[in-house]
Amino acid sequence: MTGNELRNAYLEFFRSKDHLVLPSYSLIPENDPSLLLIGAGMAPFKPFFTGKMKPLHPRIVTSQKCIRTGDIENVGRTARHHTFFEMLGNFSFGDYFKREAIAWAWEFLTDKRYLNLPADKLWVTIYTDDDEAHGIWLNDIKVPAERIIRMEDNFWEIGTGPCGPCSEIYVDLGEHRGCGSADCKVGCDCDRYLEIWNLVFTQFDRDEAGEYTPLAKKNIDTGAGLERIASVLQNKPSNFETDLLYPLIEYAAKAASVEYGKSDKTDVSLKVVADHGRSMVVMIGDGVLPSNEGRGYVLRRILRRAVRHGRLMGMEKPFLVPLVDVVIGILGAAYPDLAVKRDYIKTIIGLEEERFRLTLSQGMELLGTLIADLQEAGKDVLPGEDAFKLYDTFGFPWELTREILAENGISLEQEGFERAMNEQRERARAARSDNNDNGAM
Ligand code: ALA
Repeated sequence: MTGNELRNAYLEFFRSKDHLVLPSYSLIPENDPSLLLIGAGMAPFKPFFTGKMKPLHPRIVTSQKCIRTGDIENVGRTARHHTFFEMLGNFSFGDYFKREAIAWAWEFLTDKRYLNLPADKLWVTIYTDDDEAHGIWLNDIKVPAERIIRMEDNFWEIGTGPCGPCSEIYVDLGEHRGCGSADCKVGCDCDRYLEIWNLVFTQFDRDEAGEYTPLAKKNIDTGAGLERIASVLQNKPSNFETDLLYPLIEYAAKAASVEYGKSDKTDVSLKVVADHGRSMVVMIGDGVLPSNEGRGYVLRRILRRAVRHGRLMGMEKPFLVPLVDVVIGILGAAYPDLAVKRDYIKTIIGLEEERFRLTLSQGMELLGTLIADLQEAGKDVLPGEDAFKLYDTFGFPWELTREILAENGISLEQEGFERAMNEQRERARAARSDNNDNGAM
């Protein structure tokens, strides 16, 4: 099943369960200052859960474009992390609840007419004291008790608003995909147990002060990762080999004259370019522009990381613009507006890439001066704060700083750099009111 077929199969399945199929909302939240970017299928529906607004229909299904940057450092290093992904979600606004949500998720995953996944490879988790969900999994669905796990952190929330206990479905991909540790189990960070679906029993409204008020009606919010399920169905070692991402790896490998699967370091860079390529195209398509703050900065950071990973593979010349066509080739069927905005997206990416390349050359010049000063003074360590300033003020990648220093026999005072970085992170955290980084997808 291709990624496009899977998306359609999911939407059609829930249409057959009387859900209204809606297109994805924009990545830019409407009237929600608590979020920088849409990071979950439920985010555009908050007013429906709280009862502030009435939906057209009490059951809705979408495949929602999502950006999450909390795991950006993991992108390319695991089989499953992305900055951009699509979340398949079925929602009930005061209509059906746990029993139907659980039964339908199971039916879609295991029934021969749909995904036909082997039931004995599926594990589920529930919130510690959720005996109701436990009973449904055990008695209605007949999942053996040893594969139903109670977990304290099975409570889902994003920023302020609707939230609640949740139940997740995992696929056991087999021992060979695990970390080998004796206590590798569901919830382990490695790639063996893949979380593919989160069913949230949305019953509370969290306010700014962190208070949880029970909602007048009980709701359902679910999220299934399109790319993850595609990787299982297509029997691929990671999301990156699915048809939703692989054409980008192929393009980047060709542009860099490298081969995929030959070195871990190169593979990480190829995956970063593939993931970030999709993010930047979709973000710009939704109207985000590179800037130094807010969502514009998220875009800028993603684009710069892609350029840097290109450079790590030896790409000295701009390479991002042709990626736009590849992304549209993958996502254009589901998001036809991308093709309409093709030239615009290319222009923005082209300008920003050029600008960053300029930054890079300015950074090189400044670093050259710092190195010369150190050498004159007979020193061989660059203070961490200087490296951080280059990174923070000029956007100069610190890994590049370290590499260039090494070429000159100079080391980086890592501790001072990390101290400055942590201080900056704390400042950023304090300034950020949203929680766009939630979750494992
Ligand atoms: N909103 C839930 C999630 O993002 C489904 O995992």
